[in-house]
Amino acid sequence: MTTVIPFSQALRERTWSDHGRSEGAGFMHDLMSGKGTQDDYTALVAQHWFVYEALEAAAQRFVDDDTAAAFIEPALTRLPAIEADLEHLIGPDWREQIEPTPQVVAYCDRIREIADEGWAGGFIAHHYTRYLGDLSGGQAIKRLMQRHFGFDTNGVLFYIFDDIADPREFKENYREQLDAAGWDAAESDRVIDEVVRAYAYNTALFDDLEKAKAGAVA
Ligand code: HEM
Repeated sequence: MTTVIPFSQALRERTWSDHGRSEGAGFMHDLMSGKGTQDDYTALVAQHWFVYEALEAAAQRFVDDDTAAAFIEPALTRLPAIEADLEHLIGPDWREQIEPTPQVVAYCDRIREIADEGWAGGFIAHHYTRYLGDLSGGQAIKRLMQRHFGFDTNGVLFYIFDDIADPREFKENYREQLDAAGWDAAESDRVIDEVVRAYAYNTALFDDLEKAKAGAVA
């Protein structure tokens, strides 16, 4: 008898090494270990603004999609929290002070391309990579940023999901929804490949910020 593993498990297993590359990026490692500065953290929040602006605009495109609609949940929406964090970290003119790194431009273009194609599986791949990460490692990032930079809630609102009482339960439900998507083997592979791509963009984002830092000191 062959055991068919749930899609969510296959997804996690086949992308966990990509997760490790993102998590282990030097820029992130420095921030977590306390070697990074508050300006480094602000640079990261600024890149998040571009990514979530693209992702949450794409969500609008899929609200009526049979498969994607189940994942789109107002409690996840991050853009207002990021904007409040940027206002706190940079000031009221934050929008004129930030620009996307080259890899973030490519990342956002890819999300927009998927939205234009109307590919629900691709959208879900990007949705999963960001929001499940924010509800997982994001919670550890929040605690460390609070410790390193003295934030209470302002500055780390991005990581605070006021309307999600139990992130663990939320993630379990999310995985059940992934398993219920009903993708065939070919589409499942395509979605997993897109998650690999999403992780690569996130790793590249950190690498861009690392390079910008090196350039600033040189
Ligand atoms: C310092 C950086 C990071 C740390 C410490 C970290 C840590 C973790 C941990 C401990 C989990 C497992 C949680 C659980 O089993 O419920 C997790 C899951 C996850 N992380 Fe990260 N992470 C980091 C960065 C990232 C990044 C940059 C991304 C992508 C943008 C990401 C995306 C995810 C996703 C999608 C999951 C859910 C995997 C699944 O259960 O299917 N993480 N992370």
